[in-house]
Amino acid sequence: MIVKKITRRNFFASLVSVGVGLPLIGRFTQGQPTKKGNLNRPLIVTSKTNPDVKESVTTTAWDVLKEGGSPLDAAEKAVNVSELDLKDPTVGYGGSPNEEGDLQLDASVMSGPDGNNAGAVAALENIKTPCSVARLVMERTDHLFLVGKGALKFAKMHGFKEENLLTEEARKEWVEWKENLSERDYYLPPRKKYKPEGGGTINVFVLDAKGDIAGVTSTSGHHFKLVGRVGDSPIIGAGLYVDNDIGDAGSSGHGAESIKVCASFLAVEKMREGMTPLQACRFVCQRVVDRHDGKPMFGLKIAALNKAGDYGCGSIRGRIDKESGKVVGRGFSVHDAKGHRSEPGDALLPPMTKEERDSIPRR
Ligand code: GLY
Repeated sequence: MIVKKITRRNFFASLVSVGVGLPLIGRFTQGQPTKKGNLNRPLIVTSKTNPDVKESVTTTAWDVLKEGGSPLDAAEKAVNVSELDLKDPTVGYGGSPNEEGDLQLDASVMSGPDGNNAGAVAALENIKTPCSVARLVMERTDHLFLVGKGALKFAKMHGFKEENLLTEEARKEWVEWKENLSERDYYLPPRKKYKPEGGGTINVFVLDAKGDIAGVTSTSGHHFKLVGRVGDSPIIGAGLYVDNDIGDAGSSGHGAESIKVCASFLAVEKMREGMTPLQACRFVCQRVVDRHDGKPMFGLKIAALNKAGDYGCGSIRGRIDKESGKVVGRGFSVHDAKGHRSEPGDALLPPMTKEERDSIPRR
C-alpha cells in the first residue's frame, strides 16, 4: 500500500538536501556516530543473513522509497520478499514447521509517522505474508495483536488466500527430525542426521529522507517448536520497537530471552539516553549475558538504527572468521546512498563449544 506521494526526483534531491551527497557517504559505518548535521538518510537495515536474500530485501525497500512509498510500505514489501522466498527456511512460505508439521507464523509492524502505531499476528497458519496481516491489524482494527484462528479469520476477511505453506523440503526435514528424536519410537530414521539450516528471523528497519521510521519483523519461529509457541517477533518491545523521535530496534535468535529483557524497547530507550545504536545493541546483549551468569547457551542478535542514520548490530554469540580466526559478530545488511552492503556485527562472546552445545538438553 503506497500512501505517500514523493516523486523519484524529490527522493534523490532529498538525499542531497539532508547531507548525504557523495562526499559524505563513506563516513557512515557501524558504530561511528554521524557528526552533528550530517544525516544518513534514507537508510535500510536488515538482520537478514541469507546471502541470496539480503540484497533483494534491502533493494526492494530502497526502490519502494524511491517510488514515493512510506517507510512502512518499504519495510513491508522488503519483508514480503523474504516471506515469499522458498529458499528461506525461517520466514513465511517455506519456513520451518512446528513439531506437528504445521507452520505457525509470527510477525509485527510499527510505524513512526502513524503515531508509533503497531500491529501483530502470532501462530498464524496458511498465510504466506504474515507481516501484511499484522499491518492490517494496525490499520483496520482497534486492536494490536491477533493470534491463531482469529488472525486467520481476519486475514481471510481481508482477501488473503489460505494456502499450504509446507514445502516438500520443509516436510522432509520435519520427518527426518521426528525420526531422529528418539530411538524409542516407531519411526526409522534415514542415515543422514537432520541439521537445521541458517537464515533466521527478519527485521527490516526503514528510515526515510524526512526522518520517519518504520520496522517490520517476521519469522516462522524455532524449528519444530511446540504447537502454539510464540516467540519475540510479534511482541512489541521485544522483537520490534520504533520511536519516531529516536530510532528502531529488533531482535532475532532465541526469542524467549529477548522477551525477558524487552530487548528492542530497551535498545531504543538506551538510544534515547544518548547511546549510539551499536552501544545500545551491546548494552542489551550484555544485559542478557548477565542474566545467564556470563554463559548464555543460545544466540540472540539485536540490530538498531537511529534517526540520524547511524546503525549497529550486536550478538551475544559470534562466529569464528575463517580467515583471521577471530570472533566476529553475526552479519547484517545495510542499504543507503552508497548502495547495498553486508557488515559483520559485534559479538560479546565466541560461539558455543561442542561441549556446551552437547550439554543442552535435546528436544
Ligand atoms: N526470534 C524468533 C523466535 O524466537 O521465534
